[in-house]
Amino acid sequence: MQVLITERIHESGIDLLRRDGVNVDLLYKTDQPLADAIREADGIVVRLAKITENIMRIGKIGKLKVVAKHGIGVDNIDVEAARRLGIRVVYTPGVMSDAVAEFTLGAILFLAKSFVKYDSEVRKGNWGIRYYANNLEIKGKTVGLIGYGHIGKKVAKLANCLGAHLIVYDPYVQIQETHVKQADLNTVLKDSDFLSIHVPLTKDTYHLIGRKELELVDGLYIINSARGGIIDEVAFCEAVEKGKVAGAVLDTTEQEPIALDNPILHSENVILTAHTAGIADVAQVDESILACRQVLQVLKGEEPPYSLA
Ligand SMILES: NC(=O)c1ccc[n+]([C@@H]2O[C@H](COP(=O)([O-])OP(=O)(O)OC[C@H]3O[C@@H](n4cnc5c(N)ncnc54)[C@H](O)[C@@H]3O)[C@@H](O)[C@H]2O)c1
Repeated sequence: MQVLITERIHESGIDLLRRDGVNVDLLYKTDQPLADAIREADGIVVRLAKITENIMRIGKIGKLKVVAKHGIGVDNIDVEAARRLGIRVVYTPGVMSDAVAEFTLGAILFLAKSFVKYDSEVRKGNWGIRYYANNLEIKGKTVGLIGYGHIGKKVAKLANCLGAHLIVYDPYVQIQETHVKQADLNTVLKDSDFLSIHVPLTKDTYHLIGRKELELVDGLYIINSARGGIIDEVAFCEAVEKGKVAGAVLDTTEQEPIALDNPILHSENVILTAHTAGIADVAQVDESILACRQVLQVLKGEEPPYSLA
């Protein structure tokens, strides 16, 4: 059996496959195009590589049975097409949520405490910057969340520890926690000091935060560790320019890698973190093992625990 791995993953999953006698093909170490390599693969493990219907059709002519997403956002995989073609799609929900929630809390604190500004001033000899400092305390501020799934819930817990008020837009869940207020999107936008996004990228969430929504905010800090396409980047840059958005940490952008002429790169107080929120020591091992174990399960005819098709 042959399993193709498109992008670098932690060795632990690769070892698991090899111990089971699988021949592992590391695409990222070769110049081979995906469309060629997939012809030989029984299974494929992907991170952000686009798995289109066409790619899967080529795989299906060979022997492709399973596509494993190393992660949770499956917007890079045509899951509908996989279903039609009878190819299983598995993914790894939950295992990155601590990493992304901690990242989000870090981003909130980073924006509130202006580390970068002070550091650059001190290096220029301007120690007196301290007399103009005005750090924000999180206690008593409102943290808004869009999406209250694995990650959103954990962010709420962490922000609650700091004494923040919590307000959430997620019409698909019934929130049990009494300290978390559930509201419509416009209310969350208007009432939040910090807004963090934790929904999947779907037809419904594409540009969920657009010009109309950004008109409602005033001095909002935004953290987007979900998917770039959820924010309309043109409207976002205008909102930063007008001060409606006071700062942001964007882990994800609509185009990845971000083009060097993207105006976001010139937006003040916007930090870009190269889609690293979920890449942490423990999460990487867990994801790699869970993705590869499910590939083995499908190839052995067993039922994997997290399957979308
Ligand atoms: N940056 C990273 O490294 C990284 C890592 C992991 C996940 N992610 C992204 O974070 C997203 C969330 O992850 P999760 O594990 O919390 O997912 P999840 O499926 O557990 O939760 C998603 C939540 O979004 C809600 N939702 C769906 N559509 C919505 C809509 N239109 N409006 C409002 N709420 C909606 C759902 O009800 C659900 O509660 C993933 O889809 C993925 O794209 C990014």
